[in-house]
Amino acid sequence: MTAFPPGFFDRADPAPDSAFYAPARLVTHIDDGAIAAVGALYTELGLVGEVLDLMSSWISHFERPPRRLVGLGMNAAELRANPALAAHVVHDLNADPALPFPDACFDDATCCVSVDYLVEPVAVFAEVARVLRPGGRWVFSITHPIRWAFPDDPGPGGLQVTRSYFDQTPYVETGKDGSVAYAEHHRTLGERIRTLVGAGFTLLDLVEPEWPEELERPWGAWSPLRGRLIPGTTIFVCRLTAGTPESSAP
Ligand SMILES: C[S@@+](CC[C@H](N)C(=O)[O-])C[C@H]1O[C@@H](n2cnc3c(N)ncnc32)[C@H](O)[C@@H]1O
Repeated sequence: MTAFPPGFFDRADPAPDSAFYAPARLVTHIDDGAIAAVGALYTELGLVGEVLDLMSSWISHFERPPRRLVGLGMNAAELRANPALAAHVVHDLNADPALPFPDACFDDATCCVSVDYLVEPVAVFAEVARVLRPGGRWVFSITHPIRWAFPDDPGPGGLQVTRSYFDQTPYVETGKDGSVAYAEHHRTLGERIRTLVGAGFTLLDLVEPEWPEELERPWGAWSPLRGRLIPGTTIFVCRLTAGTPESSAP
């Protein structure tokens, strides 16, 4: 696996995430079509057993909740409002990447549009591998890494490459006092895959949902103009294969 230079995962803001996530945000982070697409994928994959929903909030996107869904997130009110969760835990993965669960206690794990907030994805993915049973799936959706090369503009300006895809400087918003209010951490596709493989996962699929033909309404910086040309999201579908007969096959 790639050796990362010292300080590579240092964050722009050392303040705990609990300050930003203290107020409940019962907002929708993806549009109705995307929610339906994620739910349909979970159904197709058969995520029906004991599932961990990481960086969870008031919605987990399953068409039908699995037998036991456990949510881990930053805000207790959001997690309490999530009708699909059988249990939840408030835990800041940037303060402590160790998951508060025993080894091999989940069949599958999910995470929707949140991995980009992780300062230490290598440590967190290794923890996901630890808490999954052999053969467990790890399904997470993120902003498509290519999107980081383009400005957040639904118009023609959003089609111009203005920054290097290889530049992994975090996106940071600062408050009036200059302190960091919000940060996202870009990684290239290659790095995401190396992180997964290093943790013992095999990549089964890299889903790149296309802009729905009939959708004419912009969603934030996304519009039919951009959406038809550049992917906005990607979903990694992985299986824990380390330690299985498959992983030791020649
Ligand atoms: C964009 S929202 C997505 C919520 C939900 N997964 C969804 O699809 O609607 C980001 C979520 O990540 C969680 N989160 C952000 N930083 C976190 C951290 N350091 N540790 C654990 N969860 C975090 C927040 O609680 C929030 O619910």
